[in-house]
Amino acid sequence: MKILAIQGSLRVGSNNRKLLKIVLEHLPSGVTGEIYELNEIPLFNGDVYDKGFPDPVDRLREKVRMADDIIISTPEYNYSISGVLKNAIDWASLAPQQPFKGKPVGIVSTSSGLFGGVRSQGHIRQVLQYLECVTMPKPELIVPQGQLKFDEAGKLTDEKTMKAVEAFTTAFVGWVTKMKNAE
Ligand code: FNR
Repeated sequence: MKILAIQGSLRVGSNNRKLLKIVLEHLPSGVTGEIYELNEIPLFNGDVYDKGFPDPVDRLREKVRMADDIIISTPEYNYSISGVLKNAIDWASLAPQQPFKGKPVGIVSTSSGLFGGVRSQGHIRQVLQYLECVTMPKPELIVPQGQLKFDEAGKLTDEKTMKAVEAFTTAFVGWVTKMKNAE
């Protein structure tokens, strides 16, 4: 199983990147995950699209196409997902051959607030519904006050969150496997 992990914050010290790395480190053997950074994706412009996908968008679309499934890590900005993430999804979703169709997706989030990005999780589910992805409903991996849960080096220092990460990865791999077997 090959997982594409899409990271919704560009910040070097991003807690969402730290969370995503820890999630990938806890995948069972035989399952691999690769983090895709969105730094090079330009702002969407229909005039540019009319001339063809920019190379970074082409690369993202290919990664989505090749992935068995996807995990998205999103910060919460003003109760929604980051503009960076929405912009990348908008680009990648365009014709021909919308690559997200049918992909199983797991969603994780951390924010500095007490709700851990739960509202952004609701919004990303809505966007992915339009793209005909299948999102894992539960367990939700939501990490409130991310700034208190990781150290500078990215190590997760909170035991309860570690248990939640383990529950999420186990459930995600089991959920995807069950769906693939049912196909
Ligand atoms: C935020 N932050 C934030 N947090 C939250 O829990 N709910 C929110 O609605 C918002 N809104 C918001 C708007 C803007 C413009 C910024 C810059 C920040 C705080 C945010 O969750 C925090 O900065 C996270 O640490 C960002 O994620 P990364 O970069 O650490 O992954």
